[in-house]
Amino acid sequence: MSSPRKLHIKSYGCQMNVYDAQRMVDTLAPEGFVETDSVGDADLVILNTCHIREKASEKVYSELGRLRVAREEAATHGRDMNVVVAGCVAQAEGDEIIRRAPVVDVVVGPQSYHNLPQLLARARNEGRAIDTEFPVEDKFTLLPQPKPEMIRARGVSAFVTVQEGCDKFCTFCVVPYTRGAEVSRPVARILDDVQRLTENGVREITLIGQNVNAYHGDGPDGQTWSLGRLLYRLAEIPGVARIRYSTSHPRDVDDDLIAAHRDLPELMPFVHLPVQSGSDRILAAMNRKHTADDYHRVIERFRSARQDIAFSSDFIVGFPGETEEDFKATLALVRQIGYAGAYSFKYSPRPGTPAADMQEMVAPATMDERLARLQELIDSQQHAFNRAAIGTTVDVLFERAARNEGQIVGRTAYLQPAHVMASEDIIGQVLPVTLDSLERYSLLGRLVTAAPPARTSFASATTGA
Ligand code: 5AD
Ligand code: SF4
Repeated sequence: MSSPRKLHIKSYGCQMNVYDAQRMVDTLAPEGFVETDSVGDADLVILNTCHIREKASEKVYSELGRLRVAREEAATHGRDMNVVVAGCVAQAEGDEIIRRAPVVDVVVGPQSYHNLPQLLARARNEGRAIDTEFPVEDKFTLLPQPKPEMIRARGVSAFVTVQEGCDKFCTFCVVPYTRGAEVSRPVARILDDVQRLTENGVREITLIGQNVNAYHGDGPDGQTWSLGRLLYRLAEIPGVARIRYSTSHPRDVDDDLIAAHRDLPELMPFVHLPVQSGSDRILAAMNRKHTADDYHRVIERFRSARQDIAFSSDFIVGFPGETEEDFKATLALVRQIGYAGAYSFKYSPRPGTPAADMQEMVAPATMDERLARLQELIDSQQHAFNRAAIGTTVDVLFERAARNEGQIVGRTAYLQPAHVMASEDIIGQVLPVTLDSLERYSLLGRLVTAAPPARTSFASATTGA
């Protein structure tokens, strides 16, 4: 019998890539592959690339340079190491990668991971293989289901892809080109996935998609279901303690979604809702299809449904043509909304996107300065938000043993890490915790161990058994 082959996956970028990496492991497990943390003893290395960040492809080529050395090193020990490039850079620049990097055996786009075993076989016979097609069939049905022990090993919180791709065509963004047109998975398949996850210990489901609230999947009743309707159904599944979804577009927030936030205690009151800029002129140039006022109105609808709701966002500074006045409008919007956290990026052109042809580039020094000012404001809001938790008692879903001896770490509704001293039995449960202090981004607290009546008054409907 041959010993298992070792697989190392290096993932960059978004949650979708983390999820896809797990699906690649599930696809290769029947081929005899087991995961390893080390590149050095891997028989197969997969770079799961991201095209969003600046100089994404250059980073891939320098990583491939390192892998060439690792492969030569393996060869001196009589071992071969295969190299696969997956993800959005593979999709966007597949042919170029094959041309420039002889170390690469297989290039595979995000729509084709189910073909990995065949592609590896083809590479063995023919030297190289590339697959960056957008297939017509639902790639999700072609991917194998994870084994129960795999689900358990991945912990209490799991991602479930409900849609992929985007039809919005923001002028700076590559997603519509790399992930393709918006496609929603049928409701029944999502329910099956969630059922399987909860049967194997998962308590928190994060529905993911590039434009998740554009979800419009075929329902079992022959109707098209919105994200909101799907959320109501998921909340009925026994074992589902918490539900989240990411990433949303402000234009696609409908009344079902708002109602779900009003009615479902399982739906966490923390929404990632990127706005990108506070200037209407820039929002129009970005083709965001909403104004700053539209965004404020969406935020108000969420807030009137659930008062404790908090928001995070993405921002781009230095979009072509952005003036100091435009940038100040972004700062003003951040001040008005008050975020629990946000990501901010300097604009950088992506080949093939409309913004890449725009002329009025903002000077690099100006971009740096604006980014620093925006990040300072966001950091101060995040810090204030985290500090406000001190002294309160909140539900925490416990995930794993912490690095510090005896501590268990979990997350609050707002994804803040919270540490308590407790036994590992509490992993997988949602329990009330009194938060005492904040260390950088982590909260320290203690389990509420009051007499049963006090405890039930804290415990929400999401509390574990
Ligand atoms: N330049 C800078 N930031 C970008 N993002 C997407 N494309 C670009 C780009 N060309 C940011 C957006 C998006 C996040 C995932 O990445 O803010 O919401
Ligand atoms: Fe990209 Fe998001 Fe705009 Fe779609 S909505 S094009 S994923 S930034």
